[in-house]
Amino acid sequence: MRRVLNSLEPMLPPTWETPFRLDADLARSLAETWGTPLYVLDEATLRYRAQRYHEALAASTPSYSLTYASKANSTFAVLAILAQEGCTIDCASEGELEAARRAGVPASSCNLHGNNKPRQALETACERGIHEIIVDSYTDIDHLIAIQRAGGQVPDLLIRLAPGVNPKTHVWISTGQSETKFGFQIADGAAEAAVKRMLDGGLPLRGVHCHVGSQLLDSDSQVQGGIAIAAFAVRMAQLHRMPLERVNIGGGLGVQYSDEDNPIALQQYCLEIAQAVRAVCEPYGYSPALVHEPGRSMVSHACVSLYTLGEKKFAPVHKYWSVDGGLSDNPRPALYDARYSVEVVGRDGPTETVTVSGSHCEVDELFADVSLPVSSQAGDLLQVLSTGAYNASMASNYNRFCRPAAVLRRLDGSVELVQTRETHDQLFAREVLPNDLRSEPC
Ligand code: LLP
Repeated sequence: MRRVLNSLEPMLPPTWETPFRLDADLARSLAETWGTPLYVLDEATLRYRAQRYHEALAASTPSYSLTYASKANSTFAVLAILAQEGCTIDCASEGELEAARRAGVPASSCNLHGNNKPRQALETACERGIHEIIVDSYTDIDHLIAIQRAGGQVPDLLIRLAPGVNPKTHVWISTGQSETKFGFQIADGAAEAAVKRMLDGGLPLRGVHCHVGSQLLDSDSQVQGGIAIAAFAVRMAQLHRMPLERVNIGGGLGVQYSDEDNPIALQQYCLEIAQAVRAVCEPYGYSPALVHEPGRSMVSHACVSLYTLGEKKFAPVHKYWSVDGGLSDNPRPALYDARYSVEVVGRDGPTETVTVSGSHCEVDELFADVSLPVSSQAGDLLQVLSTGAYNASMASNYNRFCRPAAVLRRLDGSVELVQTRETHDQLFAREVLPNDLRSEPC
């Protein structure tokens, strides 16, 4: 279904810092047409962000590639748009690889990650001619050697390293430290042993990878990670003739969700990492391509979530507004204490501090201590900014909630459905009730 719903006010062109937001007319019109909760994606913002990444990388390093971490949001339309904008698609599972395929992105434009990849996933990736696999374990290595010996075509490989860098972010999204399930430790010799095993086994190892963490507001950790893996790669190139064609420093650049966040500018971030990696490699005559693998910073600001305000309750200390979604469409506040910027559509005037809760049968605190206009009424729309990353892709059916629909604001201002709202038939499609437990249908 395609509807032309141009907003009355012209939308401002995107900037890197400002998230996409809806004006009141468009927000109301979308909610009326598709209901709430609703994810509203913006094509202009998505394309803009990919283009700024390309610019910043091109200005900071002679050779680079940009791959989009699709775990952040693998809605087909998002994958197709970012592929058109010259991103390869980084997949962390067979499901994400299949999503890319169904979105029209060939395997030759995808790479495959995973700390515990099933052999089947590696075989499928090789058969489909995937661009690159990031090797995370000795098991990956053994499977790939076996696939190659059986006549399979193994693609370019990078080795994922644990650089021993402790990033400044939430513990659940810290991955660069030594205490991790990801990759091979440099410090204890595991990484070198893995490199030798790959090279001795005749595997096409092309470079190194790390991902130190997510929602990082400066470049310190990625710079440290980049230096550690580049230094390791130079040593391996010299000791074992490991080809040093690519250094992939993962994703991790943070975004401004609320006034509390002040992320580094994109250009500076890219430049600081590129300079650090170059300083390690150049003296030895190596100039590997630099690979960035962003998820959040590519898509967060390109989406808002719309909810409808429902019940208002006055507890002894806090005021609670409830909305018609919650944990099932945005688990990030519960998981990572994430904060967001929220606005009641079309209301202004004096504000009060309230907590916005979801409708799930537990505390389900979505947005704690936010300022909302006192004039807000049940039935008003709440617009939550910067929900493009790790909302739709982490949505669940807790309490048997149907997952929201997603729409895409196209470049011409029209809005199109890109993900239908889940129905009860879809929700219960996997249920199998044994015959002896059946009673007459109610
Ligand atoms: N590359 C690898 C290997 C990764 O593991 C990740 C994210 C990325 C790239 C992209 O990172 P980003 O640019 O999005 O920070 N669910 C969490 C985030 C988990 C990130 C996992 N890995 C959240 O909602 O904050």
